[in-house]
This record gives sequence, C-alpha cells and structure tokens, in this order.
Amino acid sequence: MSGSPSILVVDDDEKNREMLAEALSQVGFEVDIACGGAEALSKANEATYDAVLSDIRMTPLSGLDLLNSFRKTMPEMPIVLLTAFGSVDTAIQAMKQGAYNYITKPVNLEELVFTMTRAVEHRRLIEDNRTLQRAFNERPRTASLIGQSKKMVEVFKLVGRVSRSRTSVLIQGESGTGKELIARAIHDNSPRATHRFVAVNCSAIPDSLLESELFGHIKGSFTGAHILRRGLLEEASGGTFFLDEVGDLSSAGQAKLLRVLQEGEVRRIGSNESIQVDVRIIAASRRNLADLIEAGRFREDLLYRLNTVNIFIPPLRERPEDIPLLAEFFLARYGDEKEVPVTSFSPAAMRALTGYAWPGNVRELEHVVERAVALASHAILSTDDLPPEVLQTNGSHADRIEILPGTLKALQRDQVLKMLESAQGNKERTARLLGISRRTLYRLLDRYGVGKTRLSTEADVSDPTGS
Ligand SMILES: Nc1ncnc2c1ncn2[C@@H]1O[C@H](COP(=O)(O)OP(=O)(O)OP(=O)(O)O)[C@@H](O)[C@H]1O
Ligand SMILES: [Mg+2]
Repeated sequence: MSGSPSILVVDDDEKNREMLAEALSQVGFEVDIACGGAEALSKANEATYDAVLSDIRMTPLSGLDLLNSFRKTMPEMPIVLLTAFGSVDTAIQAMKQGAYNYITKPVNLEELVFTMTRAVEHRRLIEDNRTLQRAFNERPRTASLIGQSKKMVEVFKLVGRVSRSRTSVLIQGESGTGKELIARAIHDNSPRATHRFVAVNCSAIPDSLLESELFGHIKGSFTGAHILRRGLLEEASGGTFFLDEVGDLSSAGQAKLLRVLQEGEVRRIGSNESIQVDVRIIAASRRNLADLIEAGRFREDLLYRLNTVNIFIPPLRERPEDIPLLAEFFLARYGDEKEVPVTSFSPAAMRALTGYAWPGNVRELEHVVERAVALASHAILSTDDLPPEVLQTNGSHADRIEILPGTLKALQRDQVLKMLESAQGNKERTARLLGISRRTLYRLLDRYGVGKTRLSTEADVSDPTGS
C-alpha cells in the first residue's frame, strides 16, 4: 500500500454521502463512494481501500450487516460506523461485532478526520507487520543449504520433490547434520511458505505442559490459565509444524499427537469445541526411531503417520567432499564481519578440517570456523587457529572415510576429479578446496591425463616448491 490513503464512504443518503466525501477529500484522502451495502461489497472486492466509513441505518443491508460481511471476507478492514445521536446501544453492538470505531451524527468534521486517520494508520500497521513477518519468514535460508556430495544432492532433490505436497516427512540424522535446516527448506519451498513455520522441541517441553503448548487452553481451564491461549498447532495452521526430537516424546505425548494426526483437529484444554487445523507435519529425530520401536519406546502407528517420506541426512564424515565447501561458506559468513576480513584457509588448515571426523557434524564445523575467525588477527587461517581435537587426527583421513575398492592413488584421483567438477573446472578454486597448491593440482591432472597444464600463463608463485 502506498500513495494517499483511500476510504470508501457508504451511505444511502446522497446528500450525506457527498458531504462526507467532500470533507475527507479536502484533507487529502482518496475517496470513493457507494450508495449501499451491496455496492460497497462489490467495490471493496475490486479495489483496495484502507478503511470504510458507513452509515448504520441503511436498507436493505444495514451498516451492521455490512460490518459482518467485511469481518468474514476482509477481517482486517477497519470499519467506522456512523450512528444517529442517541442510538448508543447500536454503537456498542457495532464495537462488539468488530467495528474499528463509531462516530455519532451530526458529524463533527474534526472528529471525522481524526478517526479516519487513525483507522487508516491501524490498517497500514497491520499491513507493515505482515510484510515484515513475511520478509522475516522468507529470509534467505534455503539459499544457504550447502553441499555437493552425491548424498546431499539426493537429499536436496528429495526436498524439492516433497515440497509441493502436504505429505508428512520424517528427517533423521545425527546431531548437527542440518535436520532443522532441511525442514525449513521444505517449508520455504512449499505453497505454505507464506504461513508460519512453527517448531517445537519435544525434548524441551515437560510432559505436564505438552498438551497446553500443542492445543492451547481456554481461560480458567486450570490453575494458571489466566487467559485464552492458542496452541502451537493452531498457530501453525496453513503452515508447517516441525516436531523436533520426536523420539523424545513420552508415551502419553505420543498418544496425543497420534490423535491429532488422525483427526486433523485440536481441542483447547477446557473447551468442548474442536478446531480444524490444516498443518503439514515435519518431524525430526537424531535417534533411530526403528530402534526405539524395537525397544518399546516409540509407537509404530505414530511412525507410520510421520514417515510418509523419510529423509536421512548422512553424517559429515561420510561426505568429506562437503567439508571444504561448508568451511568456505562459514568463513564467508563470519569472516566478513571482522575489521580485518579473514579470507581463506591455509592448505594445511583445510587439510586438517577435511581429515577430521566431526562427531558434532556441520554444527561443530560451523563453531570451529566461527571461533577461528573470532580469534584470528590475520587474513589466512592456519592450523594454529584450529582446536587441538581437529589437529590430532590430521593426516589419518583415509581410515575414516569409507574405504572404496581400489588403491589410495585411485581414491586420490577420484577426489581430485570430483572437486574439479564441483568447482566447475576452476583450477584455482579446486586447488584451494583440496588444500594443495595449483602447481600440485596441475601435476596431478597431467598424470591423470586431464586438461593441459597452462603454467606458462598462470604461473603459481605462491608455492614454488609445489608441495
Ligand atoms: N547443508 C548445510 N549447509 C549450510 N549450513 C548447514 C548445513 N547443514 C547444517 N548447517 C548449519 O549447521 C547448524 C546445525 O544445523 P541444524 O540445527 O539444522 O542441525 P540439526 O540436525 O537440527 O541438529 P540437532 O540434532 O543438534 O538439533 C546450523 O547452524 C545450520 O545452519
Ligand atoms: Mg535440530
């Protein structure tokens, strides 16, 4: 919304209508008129007004009828009603039914302008809030999903495929592998993206509060319930409900959740009324739910409801080719914030990062880079900036990645070519990703019979030893 604020004036009395329109346009409002409720509704459907000013006493549709129609179709439209002096009861009725305000006749022009200005501001505030909320929800999270390994590319493809539908998705993977990030990516790419993504961590909510958190409660339903509270499931309506650590749900919690999934409706505690909720469920667990079922700690029928689609995010140690990409990504994120920007890793530092097993997965890698950047006083991060646990395992990389058939040389060749491909043939970047000098890369490519070395034009002076 921009430009002059616009108001629709509704009155079946032509003289009144003209007088109000005239008064409002004189102070700068854009004014449109309708001579009755029906015309008002059809005009409001076609144009965007910031507020409506309507007489109450009109036939066949009264101002209150008009108010009710607006409440249903355009609940945010502020409606100001005009009542005859003395009919305060109707005015109260109007406020109860959701009018923004009322003005008594004969109209005091100053009051009219003041009230309509406030009504318009109110509307714009709601609108601004919504825009902010939307911008917040749509901040580029999906863009920051990093990974080029075959396994992650499969995960990303699956994300794209399930985004369009409403099927429930179960995301499993070790701690820190990016389960929540994937859940958000599914939401952000779905038709539900303009609605909310509500996350609840099942292991953080005590059993006694679970029900009121999920379903809400009405006022006075239990000690401490001072106000009506909508549950999280209701808040997520139209959007996505993310159940994190679903494996930690108690058996009572599991039973309650199962009922919601079966019935598609919730009942606030203390209320007899069921409310339909339209949510897409995404659940995540760091623990293997099949194992929990075997141990009798998770309901099989609940698992079937949750895992229409199953996404498994592999631990970082099973996709070491993602490590340099992620490390560079986090370096760019944190390195820019420094006064002296931190721009790259030394080859040895990158080798150490790639060789480490990352029990805490991507989250741990992110923390290590963040910490290194925070402590560094130079542009290139070296092994001195890395924590001891990362360095200890340096060099023994080969025994932690899956050993593929073939010699070490063949493994090395695969890795080099994979990196070259992921860097789209850019050799400088490939060398950086591999933590080797460009000269070494050219020598290796030469040995593999890939490409022509072009040392004559791209002399590598940074590392003349070619180590
Ligand atoms: N593929 C990725 N690309 C970019 N950032 C990632 C990726 N995977 C994980 N991250 C980042 O790593 C951190 C951990 O991710 P997230 O919280 O989604 O993991 P999780 O599996 O839910 O972990 P936990 O089991 O501990 O809750 C986040 O800061 C996230 O942004
Ligand atoms: Mg998580």
